[in-house]
Amino acid sequence: MAKVTIAEVPKHLDEEVTIGAWIANKRSSGKIAFLQLRDGTGFIQGVVVKADVSEEVFQTAKTITQESSLYATGIVQKDERSPFGYELQIKKLEVLHHSVDYPITPKEHGTEFLMDHRHLWLRSKRQHAVMKVRNEIIRATYEFFNQNGFVKVDPPILTGSAPEGTTELFATKYFDEDAYLSQSGQLYMEAAAMALGKVFSFGPTFRAEKSKTRRHLIEFWMIEPEMAFVEFDESLQVQEEYVSFLVQSVLKNCPLELKTLGRDVSKLETITAPFPRITYDDALKLLHEKGFDDIEWGDDFGAPHETAIAESYDKPVFITHYPTTLKPFYMQPDKNRQEVVLCADLIAPEGYGEIIGGSERIHDYDLLKQRLEEHGLEMAAYKWYLELSQYGAVPHSGFGLGLERTVAWLSGVEHVRETIPFPRLLNRLYP
Ligand code: 4AD
Ligand code: MG
Repeated sequence: MAKVTIAEVPKHLDEEVTIGAWIANKRSSGKIAFLQLRDGTGFIQGVVVKADVSEEVFQTAKTITQESSLYATGIVQKDERSPFGYELQIKKLEVLHHSVDYPITPKEHGTEFLMDHRHLWLRSKRQHAVMKVRNEIIRATYEFFNQNGFVKVDPPILTGSAPEGTTELFATKYFDEDAYLSQSGQLYMEAAAMALGKVFSFGPTFRAEKSKTRRHLIEFWMIEPEMAFVEFDESLQVQEEYVSFLVQSVLKNCPLELKTLGRDVSKLETITAPFPRITYDDALKLLHEKGFDDIEWGDDFGAPHETAIAESYDKPVFITHYPTTLKPFYMQPDKNRQEVVLCADLIAPEGYGEIIGGSERIHDYDLLKQRLEEHGLEMAAYKWYLELSQYGAVPHSGFGLGLERTVAWLSGVEHVRETIPFPRLLNRLYP
């Protein structure tokens, strides 16, 4: 008899197998009990027929509690009614641990309650599905960049300089010096691109941002590619190909999860490169047409603006050429129009907001120095960064994709707090 995982069950049709599992849910009548088994790799229904098992096994099935752990032995059979397609005709149950009063019951719970029990909530079918989608995006990211000649480079987490402005930094002591938790690895990735050509990073980033929205986390994961000799338009092509690859990979490899989540996949199937592009100026016109009268040239777009712009498209849309004043010091000004920069934010459809921020970078030493000064940044902390433009400066571009916002979009979950195993939020450091 084979000990298998639920994911391996399809390879064992009509065979007797043993599965180590937890009881996700249960219902029973006088003659039959249905155990919803989960083992982390999936969910399967175990059917216990009174007439087919010993009295002891049937009593165990009738009295077993939610989240108790056990070894379930039975015959794998087809079950056309379940999305998984298989069920287990139980022969034997060996209880490992009796769980008493599991706090998360099949009834509805409030969000705060669930967030307080995140360490247990992760076991639920919906959270399981979101984590599998997240994993698929991670897997597909490595596949995409490895196939396209990128080298993975790991920038430091403890840093002395801040690429995205100094207002949202987590400060910490680095022995006698001041240090910050990384808000972006970009500057280091630029150095790496000059050494390795095409590079990408994938790691945690931190923003001490007092935002309490469905799109903001204090700690989130970012994928940051950086490419030497790649100009603005070429970078947009990499972005649309990468995002299309992520969407198509999730559709291909997570059909059950998307079904569990009730995701409307018809809205994802159409997401293929190329994506539409609209300039900031035209986006502003569109907003005025849509009745956003207050917004003026030079104002940043908020979530309602992004959503209104995205509604005009059924694919993600690049908003390009933002006013220089709205963006960080390192972005390359448009040579025909100095007041805008060669940047793009990629806005996801269906109100999920900005998933990518990127730009061509300044590679002219004098301009870079001037921009650092204009932003009031301490030159000593950026000395090393400036040296990149002193020794073989080249045009280069890069971008950052926020993992959690992408997971939210593809899973169709409302809030990013469900897209990371243990979210760090404004008022939440536990669990
Ligand atoms: O637009 P951002 O701030 O860009 C950068 O950090 C650049 N240095 C990236 C680069 O060019 N290498 O952040 C990039 C993306 C956003 O588009 C968003 O998806 C995500 O990171 N992001 C957040 N996700 C969750 N919570 C937050 N507080 C986020 N801030 C940014
Ligand atoms: Mg941004």
